[in-house]
Amino acid sequence: MTKKRVAVLISGRGSNMAALIGAAKEEAYPAQIVLVLSNRPAAAGLASARAAGIATAVVDHTAYGKARERFEQAMQAELETHRIELVCLAGFMRLLTPSFVRRWQGRMINIHPALLPAFKGLHTHQRALAAGVRIHGASVHFVVEETDGGPIIAQGVLAVRDDDTAASLADRVLAIEHKIYPAALALLASGRLTIVDGRCRIAGTQDAPGHLIAPPI
Ligand code: GAR
Repeated sequence: MTKKRVAVLISGRGSNMAALIGAAKEEAYPAQIVLVLSNRPAAAGLASARAAGIATAVVDHTAYGKARERFEQAMQAELETHRIELVCLAGFMRLLTPSFVRRWQGRMINIHPALLPAFKGLHTHQRALAAGVRIHGASVHFVVEETDGGPIIAQGVLAVRDDDTAASLADRVLAIEHKIYPAALALLASGRLTIVDGRCRIAGTQDAPGHLIAPPI
C-alpha cells in the first residue's frame, strides 16, 4: 500500500494535528503526515510536529498584507516541494481563495467544532449554548468555496448538559474531533469517498447503531 502524502495546516495548538500524527503511526493507516504548515510562526503545534520528526514550514500571512494570492502561492510551493496529495485543515484560521480551494477540490478537508450545517464560522460552542441545542458536536467536511459548507464526511455528537459552558463543551467536543478526524482522513486516503450531488458517499461502512437522544428517555 502506498500511503497518501498529507500536509496538516494549523494556526495554533495543533491537538487535531497531533491526533492525525498519532493515527498515522499505525502501519495499516493509509496516509502519512509529511508536512505541518502554519501561517503563524508562534503556533504551538509546530514544536510538537518537530518533536514527532515531521517537517514543518511557516508561511506567515502577515508578511503578505492583503495579497492573499501571494500568501497562497507560497503555501502551494511548500505543498509541491513535499509532494503533498491531501491537505487537512486543523484549526487553520485563514480563509482561502476560490482558486486555492478549487485547486485542492476533493483533496482538502477541514474539521469544524459544530454539527454542520449549524453554527458555521466562529464561537460555535457559545452559539450552541445560546441557541439551547440539546445535541452538539463536530464535523469533518470537504473544503469548498463556501466557508464550512462542503460535503460532510463524518460527525460526532454529544448531549449538552445544563451546566455546560463554552469551555466545557469545547473540551468534550475536542475529544470527538480527535476521533473523527483521523477516521475521516483514513476514509479519504483509502479512496472510499465519492461526492454525488454535493453529498459524500462512503463505500463499505456500516450504519451507526442506536440513537443518541437528549435528555435520555
Ligand atoms: C479545533 O476545535 C477546531 O475544530 C477548530 O479550532 C480548534 C483547533 O484546535 N477549528 C475551527 O474553528 C475552524 N474554523 P487544535 O489546534 O488543538 O486542533
